[in-house]
Amino acid sequence: MTYSEQYLRSIDAPEAFWGEQAAALDWFQRPETMLDRDDNGIHRWFVDGQLNTCHLALDYHVAQGRGDQVAIYYDSPVTDSKRAITYSDLLDQVARFAGVLLAQGVSKGDRVLIYMPMVPEAAVAMLACARIGAIHSVVFGGFAAHELAIRIDDAEPVVVVSASCGIEVDKVIPYKPLLDAAIEASQYKPRATVILQRPEAAAELQAGRDIDWAAAAADAEPAPCTPVAATDPLYILYTSGTTGRPKGVVRDNGGHAVAMHYSMKAIYNMNPGDVFWAASDVGWVVGHSYIVYAPLIAGLTTVLYEGKPVRTPDAGAFWRVVSEYGVKALFAAPTAFRAIRKEDPEGKLLAQYDMSCLKTLFMAGERLDPPTYDWARELLQVPVVDHWWQTETGWAICANPMGIEPVATRAGSATFPVPGYNVQILDDDGKQLGPDQQGSVALKLPLPPGCLPTIWGNFPRFRDGYLSTFDGYYVSGDGGYRDEDGYVYIMGRTDDVINVAGHRLSTGEMEEILAAHPAVAECAVIGVHCELKGQKPLGLVLLKDGVDIDPDQLHRELVASVRQEIGAVASFKDTLIVPRLPKTRSGKILRKVLRQMTDGEEYAVPSTIDDPASLPELEQLLTRHRTP
Ligand code: COA
Ligand code: AMP
Repeated sequence: MTYSEQYLRSIDAPEAFWGEQAAALDWFQRPETMLDRDDNGIHRWFVDGQLNTCHLALDYHVAQGRGDQVAIYYDSPVTDSKRAITYSDLLDQVARFAGVLLAQGVSKGDRVLIYMPMVPEAAVAMLACARIGAIHSVVFGGFAAHELAIRIDDAEPVVVVSASCGIEVDKVIPYKPLLDAAIEASQYKPRATVILQRPEAAAELQAGRDIDWAAAAADAEPAPCTPVAATDPLYILYTSGTTGRPKGVVRDNGGHAVAMHYSMKAIYNMNPGDVFWAASDVGWVVGHSYIVYAPLIAGLTTVLYEGKPVRTPDAGAFWRVVSEYGVKALFAAPTAFRAIRKEDPEGKLLAQYDMSCLKTLFMAGERLDPPTYDWARELLQVPVVDHWWQTETGWAICANPMGIEPVATRAGSATFPVPGYNVQILDDDGKQLGPDQQGSVALKLPLPPGCLPTIWGNFPRFRDGYLSTFDGYYVSGDGGYRDEDGYVYIMGRTDDVINVAGHRLSTGEMEEILAAHPAVAECAVIGVHCELKGQKPLGLVLLKDGVDIDPDQLHRELVASVRQEIGAVASFKDTLIVPRLPKTRSGKILRKVLRQMTDGEEYAVPSTIDDPASLPELEQLLTRHRTP
């Protein structure tokens, strides 16, 4: 089938289309009802199916004779180590670790929080949870103790799995003190923690609570796969919303497995045995979907890379990994390519490597800016595919469907809607807009398999945040348009979420932290242009009357508190004291105008502005602050 045929069928006959995709998987009980609605009125896929995601990722392949194929290449320039783990080895490790979790009293439906660096044991822990029907929640290693505590309180994990440390280029970051502080701060107390000791910084274990991974796994009884319902949750992954409280995106087992399997071929054109590398982190959705689950469910070999695109040791690191493991498709964030380009503008290091194995470069996490798109395409001489998605969907909404029918790409566009996604551009009243008209990018319901059915423990937040704006649609939070030929262009968030080095962050959360400083009367955090990271946060603060504080000291304190509360990953390094913040008469700060002023873009002042006379002075101040 051509792309158009597949796409139309997925929209006109979704149950038949996804039923056929589901039939490719080894269910314990095949679903007969493809699409239904739950008690909240939300569409649910494959409701009467029974399966186990770990079985699909491991046991099935071993049974099919793939046991000796490498499942994971672990490559860690930061520890100077490499490991090739076969499907059989991985199954053994996962079954044992599942036994460790069972021995700690974890049972089906319980949560397990995983706070780990990019080591294979992170994937082992995820798959072990899937194996026993427990729900994992992986927290990115760059988050601070406070963020971890929020997630512990929300997910209420029976067990936390962690490591003694992570390694950032040449810095060793002890995780255990962060974990201890988080558990100290959280209301909910996990029963036990399992700690992977790493030689770079061993952790002191607390008797009665902390368990050593290696010792526990050595004695563990391997556990079999527990059948779960297709609609049972596989994981919760927290992502930034507009407030200080992250949203626990829930992923089910059945829809997710079908979407992962389908996408590996339809979008990425990967076949069993091929090598796939998503240069992300297991703490993000890209890592969940395309480092761990999709490549394994599809019988591929996945690369788990503990390093950076630059400085580990140089800007040729990506080329080295691609050539060393025979990577057929690389998935990276544009910011990684901007970092490589900055250090090696002509891509000279590429000449040292045989890159003939690489067939496609996929980019996501943020908009692929045309200069980076052109640079990567010219350098690598392979198709460069920008594809758009979000934690909530778990897989791409728009892409160039390389395994169905590759089409010519256009710079700045994420190409076409992926089968299953009915993408519409809507105006503020929910009316569909025509070609080249920019509006809110919305997805007509039902969403395809794999997308979130709710926010953990908070269905109203899901309904109000995503489904209430336009009747019958899911709102993505992104703005964009379609051109005359149907190419979709995603132009950026329409809410207070920003994207820093491919990491999604909430400005609202940063504002809550700045506002807590005793000298600050009011503040706004905006995402301003950054040559390397796409965006970076800038904190604009208004001082309380009569406050006498050295601006440098205030700056240092504000930067330190965001780092302390959210973590280094926020990249919060810029503040500016302003005389006032422009607002509408109803008191809403005009953040978009502030961002446009700082970035030197045209801006329209809303007629509802409270104090238009204050704008020129503010613009002058922000212009001086602009990144050259
Ligand atoms: N654990 C602990 N700290 C972490 C961390 C982790 N897992 N990840 C990042 N950090 C820290 C960094 O050390 C840095 O700390 P610093 O302020 O003390 O230097 C800070 O968080 C910001 O990190 P980062 O945004 O990664 O910036 P960088 O300057 O270290 O590296 C890039 C810049 C572009 C090389 C890097 O951001 C990158 O590789 N980006 C790709 C992102 C990506 O793959 N995203 C996935 C989405 S698909
Ligand atoms: P996350 O949930 O962390 O994956 O971030 C999702 C957000 O990142 C989206 O809502 C977009 O704002 C942005 N994003 C991701 N991929 C792209 C892309 N290819 N083009 C434009 N924006 C993107």
